[in-house]
Amino acid sequence: MTKIIVAINQKGGVGKSTLAFHLAHAAAAQGDGKRVLCLDLDSQGNFSQYLTGDLDVINDTVGGVGVFLEGREITPSKTTREGIELLHGHSKLDRYDNDPDVEERGYSTVMRHQLRELGYDYIVIDTPPAVGFRHMAALCWADLAVIPMEPVMTSIVGFQNVLVSIDEFITPINPGLKWCGVVNKANLRVKSHREKEEYVRQEYGQHIVATLATRTAVSEAMEEEPAQPVWLKKGVPRDLRQVWLDFCNEIIKG
Ligand SMILES: Nc1ncnc2c1ncn2[C@@H]1O[C@H](COP(=O)(O)OP(=O)(O)O)[C@@H](O)[C@H]1O
Ligand SMILES: [Mg+2]
Repeated sequence: MTKIIVAINQKGGVGKSTLAFHLAHAAAAQGDGKRVLCLDLDSQGNFSQYLTGDLDVINDTVGGVGVFLEGREITPSKTTREGIELLHGHSKLDRYDNDPDVEERGYSTVMRHQLRELGYDYIVIDTPPAVGFRHMAALCWADLAVIPMEPVMTSIVGFQNVLVSIDEFITPINPGLKWCGVVNKANLRVKSHREKEEYVRQEYGQHIVATLATRTAVSEAMEEEPAQPVWLKKGVPRDLRQVWLDFCNEIIKG
């Protein structure tokens, strides 16, 4: 059984690629020989850069995730972590956005089944910061949508728009999709952040599975060459390592 997890919010900078990276690492660490496939649907390719340590990976515009979108046989590439493979994102992914053939397969159960038949234990998908084919299709394929948001209004609106898309468009195609929200980059000493965090928790209850603080160690872990999960980075306080590890494990196992 493959578990497919997508990190999604049309708003940029909320932590989608960071969470996807950490979730992939947590998934690979679930047991010996666990196999994880990462799909990077964002043409900025940050997830691919984090996973490979190669900033140029996004310039290979004929390989990567586009091959899957075209319905051709895929050859996932290696990442810096054994057990994690990648179909990388690249700068020309928008060529698939208004292609009727791609859309037909993407929005039906065809690609959803193709992904499951690849035999991975987990598939982690990162998405672009915009509503469109690659955003919607990922929701059609996933078992779980993880929706990070900053505790600011524009980002919460992005989160709410994902929920509207799920209700109106995705549920008929992918009725089993579950979702959870994550408040990320929070500073609860700031009044407006506290208020927004309380609001989403009141409104969405148990669907909000974590509040993650803005911590320099997180962005620094992503800036390492290559990037590494914050729980593996030297010198990171134990409490921070544990928060991220527990949170990711809960999502992977839940
Ligand atoms: N909890 C956090 N604390 C500090 N920095 C964070 C945290 N989460 C994400 N970041 C940083 O914020 C920036 C945007 O994150 P990213 O994952 O690229 O967002 P998105 O993929 O949604 O655009 C990155 O520089 C990342 O390192
Ligand atoms: Mg991103």
